Amino acid sequence: MEHHDDRIMTGGRIDADEAFAELSLRPKRLGEYIGQKNVTDNLKVFIEAARMRNEPLDHVLFYGPPGLGKTTLAGIIANELDVELRITSGPAIERAGDLAALLTNLNDKDVLFIDEIHRLNRSVEEVLYSAMEDYAIDIIIGKGPSARSIRIDLGKFTLIGATTRAGSLSAPLRDRFGVIGKFEMYRPGELESIIKRSAELLCVETDEDSRTELALRSRGTPRVANRLLKRVRDFCQVRGNGRIDIGITRHTLESLGIDEKGLEGLDRDILRLIIDRFGGGPVGIDTIAAAIGEERVTIEDVYEPYLMQMGYLHRTQKGRVVSKDAYLHLGLKAPDASENAQISIFEEEDSPQ
Ligand code: ADE
Repeated sequence: MEHHDDRIMTGGRIDADEAFAELSLRPKRLGEYIGQKNVTDNLKVFIEAARMRNEPLDHVLFYGPPGLGKTTLAGIIANELDVELRITSGPAIERAGDLAALLTNLNDKDVLFIDEIHRLNRSVEEVLYSAMEDYAIDIIIGKGPSARSIRIDLGKFTLIGATTRAGSLSAPLRDRFGVIGKFEMYRPGELESIIKRSAELLCVETDEDSRTELALRSRGTPRVANRLLKRVRDFCQVRGNGRIDIGITRHTLESLGIDEKGLEGLDRDILRLIIDRFGGGPVGIDTIAAAIGEERVTIEDVYEPYLMQMGYLHRTQKGRVVSKDAYLHLGLKAPDASENAQISIFEEEDSPQ
């Protein structure tokens, strides 16, 4: 069975057309999945063991920045287990009754995928505890003196939760996952392989230089790599000769405002803001969000991970600070170390995860 049907993209940087097109590029089997070896090597064993015992897979939590393939891997797990996959998200489950409706439709070993699981509200989360632990839920029927509680047994399902911020998960919820997988940004070589595979699926010819260039400018993220590949394909079809080469690749990236390091307009806006208005920092995240006009969580979850990965931005206890490399990347003169004494490695905040 190969599902991946009822995916609804919310809040991400992707439109409905692209969400649809991306479905065909998603790998369906573990053998096709590139990268995240830390997660997949262990999962392979747990899936095989569950299959051998004819038991459901233990509940799985995936965390890490968006676009790294958490949903894709959930789909692969369901396929490898040969079971149904249901996909929903934390904000979509408003009331306990919504979750009860989802849970009572699951059969033994089916997979329920909850994206943005850190955004479940408290009353829903409490229902989930007993569902995960006992495969049963207690539902209150009626109101006032005639209200009574009934217990509903559920299929022995597997919950796969995904979140960009494991630190925001309540401890009781986090403790109920038997398998925890941390997603990391992809290395350029892995992204090259993903781009090669996607180009073949899209029936478009690419040369090695173009794939290397795209990989280096994709922010370590397959979702970005696939989106850029499709944009280069568009330029190539209209302005080029039908074969993706380095010239059309660079032209496309320039047209999209993506620089040599993969930074886009808003990434540079954030760095420029901290440099121009706050002397390089430290400055609080809420101040940055207000000045840029983006939500704080979007800056934290979407923009900052790559800026930090590149070493352009640091999170310190006093706020965000840009590095010397950020100045140099923007073509600016970096301040002397003495002027920028606030950049101290000892002040680095712990990762929120
Ligand atoms: N497409 C998107 N992510 C992928 C991955 N991790 N492996 C293979 N193809 C992909």
